[in-house]
Amino acid sequence: MEKLKIVLVSSEVAPFAKTGGLADVAGSLPLALKGLGCDIKVFLPYYRQAKKQDFGIKLFKKNIITKVGSEDINFSLYHCEKENVDFYFIEKDDYYDRDFLYGTSTSDYPDNAMRFAFFASAVLSSIVAMNFKPDVIHCNDWQTALIPFDLRNRLQNVKVFKNTHTLFTIHNLAYQGLFARDVAYQLGIGDEFFTPDTLEFYGKLSFMKSGILYSDAVSTVSRGYSHEILTPEFGCGLDGLLNIRRNDLYGIVNGVNYSDWDPKIDKNIKANYDETNLGDKAKCKKDLLSLAKLKSSLEAPLLGVITRLAEQKGIDIIADSIEEIIGFGCNLVILGMGDEKYHNLLTELSKKYPKNIAVKIGFDNVLAHKIEAGCDMFLMPSRFEPCGLNQMYSLKYGTIPIVRAVGGLDDTITDYTQNKREGNGFKFNQANKDDFMNAFKRALSTYKNKKEWEKLVLKVMGLDFSWEQSAKEYTRVYKTIMKVEKVESCCIS
Ligand code: GLC
Repeated sequence: MEKLKIVLVSSEVAPFAKTGGLADVAGSLPLALKGLGCDIKVFLPYYRQAKKQDFGIKLFKKNIITKVGSEDINFSLYHCEKENVDFYFIEKDDYYDRDFLYGTSTSDYPDNAMRFAFFASAVLSSIVAMNFKPDVIHCNDWQTALIPFDLRNRLQNVKVFKNTHTLFTIHNLAYQGLFARDVAYQLGIGDEFFTPDTLEFYGKLSFMKSGILYSDAVSTVSRGYSHEILTPEFGCGLDGLLNIRRNDLYGIVNGVNYSDWDPKIDKNIKANYDETNLGDKAKCKKDLLSLAKLKSSLEAPLLGVITRLAEQKGIDIIADSIEEIIGFGCNLVILGMGDEKYHNLLTELSKKYPKNIAVKIGFDNVLAHKIEAGCDMFLMPSRFEPCGLNQMYSLKYGTIPIVRAVGGLDDTITDYTQNKREGNGFKFNQANKDDFMNAFKRALSTYKNKKEWEKLVLKVMGLDFSWEQSAKEYTRVYKTIMKVEKVESCCIS
């Protein structure tokens, strides 16, 4: 059988450039697809973050021209190979040679619409320049969402795309890429595409709508979230449109790349361990405590949080509960970056309780691994969570997750109190302090029973959330959409 020819496009890809889980997925799913025999190419912007490091990225093609609105824009394409997968980097320093990927902690970059409209366009022009004929272009989140629009409405006659289909994966429906109407003109999106049936959304231009409307299928990163986004509570105003596309909507849970996240081989942690030498997890705890300057005994439960500091993640629930948690003799290590109000709130708390709470504002991959290894429990009280990856990383490191029963967290975590045999964490339902504390207290009382806790830890370390199953599901979706007649009309109404 001929190989599936897939192009995966993402605005961040680990290890090259990362702000969150999207990068982990875009960096690891392609490796799994390659393992299943796909011909896969990955595209991302060539950010400063990637330029600063040594990945062996080399110039591939100079002077490619792409059109955005009425402007012809010249760029270069760079390339590197990692584990037999080809990664391509769109170089345009005016747009990507910046301190951050999307903006600072106080505001997004004002030209984000242009930066990512250009990215979408440049990826398509690169594919043409390479004379590659993809079966499926797999787009991810709003930053890539104009690709299905361009293929359907502008490039429908371009030869290499004659048999190209699109899958649009939503990693987080709350980030939609909404811009002022003027921007539509700048991007060459005329009035015919600025209607409620097309890209208009409450008077703004919506990139997300483009992904949902013009792709051959839509997916999201867990089964639970694929159901939730059809409701007004989680639909972020797009539940109506998503319901129209519900027959083409798939929920495929993310996997874990265990070459990066396995305490047995993890180079970032103090001591490697697995189910046979769990004692060495204590060395990681000791190391983390000293690094975080927490004066705690090894016995006291240590709780970890690694997250984007945003409302979605329930940081306020943690902040509200923190004094009570410390009152139980527990300590916390928190790593993350995001909204300034949470930076301030958490920093204040760590100043008030320096012996018990350590906070690091920023991205720190090494510290993230140390937290997974060194903690006893991991907190994810999210308001919504499309998938969540840290709960799965935590399981492998024997760090018991306490999560809210939403989206991917609900799909991957089974409550231990309710089901001791299958339970792999502690779950609560309502996004409030009482419900969260109830789950925490159940976790704490299990922790106090050393034998029972160790049994739970050993069990969860053995669970398997690797990509293989999910990557197979993606190939099934790719094959399904390849059979879809190419839709010529431009809108669904
Ligand atoms: C987004 C979501 C998160 C998901 C990740 C990767 O960051 O918020 O839940 O795990 O994308 O799909």
